Amino acid sequence: MKILGIESSCDETAVAVVEDGRKLLSNVIQTQIDIHSQYGGVVPEVAARSHIEVINPVINQALRDADCTWDDIDAIAVTYAPGLIGSLLVGTLAARTLALIHNKPLYPIHHVEAHVYANFIIEKMESQPNNLLPSERGKTIIGAGEHGKGGRAIGGLRDLVLPSSQPQFPMLALIVSGGHSQLVLFQDHGNYELLGQTQDDAVGEAFDKVAKIIGLPYPGGPSVAKAALAGDPHKYKLPKAKLTNPYDFSFSGLKTALLRAVQHETGNDYTFPSHDLPALLSDVQRNDFAASFQQTAVETLVDKAEKAFKDYSPASVVIAGGVAANQELRRQLQERLPLNIEYAPMQLCTDNGAMIAALGYFYAQKKDPVSPFDLEVVPSLSMTKTAWA
Ligand code: KG4
Ligand code: ZN
Repeated sequence: MKILGIESSCDETAVAVVEDGRKLLSNVIQTQIDIHSQYGGVVPEVAARSHIEVINPVINQALRDADCTWDDIDAIAVTYAPGLIGSLLVGTLAARTLALIHNKPLYPIHHVEAHVYANFIIEKMESQPNNLLPSERGKTIIGAGEHGKGGRAIGGLRDLVLPSSQPQFPMLALIVSGGHSQLVLFQDHGNYELLGQTQDDAVGEAFDKVAKIIGLPYPGGPSVAKAALAGDPHKYKLPKAKLTNPYDFSFSGLKTALLRAVQHETGNDYTFPSHDLPALLSDVQRNDFAASFQQTAVETLVDKAEKAFKDYSPASVVIAGGVAANQELRRQLQERLPLNIEYAPMQLCTDNGAMIAALGYFYAQKKDPVSPFDLEVVPSLSMTKTAWA
């Protein structure tokens, strides 16, 4: 069963074709990072307009890369929740229209749940040439747009290193993104229990905010991780939150502690405005703060994953969401858990259409499609509300 997956919940317009929830046939991601970085974060109205500009070319390229016409596609899966309302509307409208025109079943997919399913993609179409030559990576190839700034398209399967087998149930999932931090225990597809979640900031959000405080570019996760490589992770001692539910997270206190440490290090008190701090930091200090923050955040995630592993003895552990791209998280998790963890490639950890198409397949085994006339977006929807067994 070949499913075309459409993702547009935030600042990536992404479409992929996946066969049987496991084989990647194409993966096109048009990121708007270049557009939003000048504002230091995603501007919802700009994101929605940008999706409109590129959604059709991205869909067409995903079909072309997969060597498919609409006749080859068995169903469409689309993110309907959660996310920015304007962004979600663009993807779902495209999906609803295409489902009607081409008479395809339509499956509504929860974005956070889908992140976990990036780990189920273990094969790729080998014959597919990279749709981007190495020399073209990072250039605008689709829909430069009327702003002339465009976005960047990333795609191509040649460099993707995929896990060798699909995760087994029970499966412990650590979901860590810009909007979510949660530990979830899956007994089966659509049958899962939320063990714990963040009580305030998501961990990716904390990475993004800390990057701002120490003067690193948006998006904060990758730039903090890069600076941390050159820093001392034990230079600044930062606190870990203690919570009643041992699986819950809290990252807001860590972020504030880092702000206070930067103010203190630069000889200021807590009233000193954070936006004036980056100019006062040396590169050495910046790197040490990045490394110390990353160390504490990652250790917190791994502490809780390790506890859940001991308590529930899952057959497999997966990490999902943008922060799962973090190398230090992968390293520490592997070091502390007594099983071999296979990680999804970076391109499938941050937002993509492949994870939507992969989950679409498993969802379609158990659930009926929705009517293209009825599908509505839900900007804010807890993952547990969709448990579909
Ligand atoms: O899953 P995602 O692409 O979008 C959401 O659904 O939120 O996650 C984006 C988040 C951002 O907060 C970004 O800073 C973070 O993932 N991120 C990282 C890394 N790459 C992306 N955080 C830490 N280390 C990274 N290498
Ligand atoms: Zn995401």
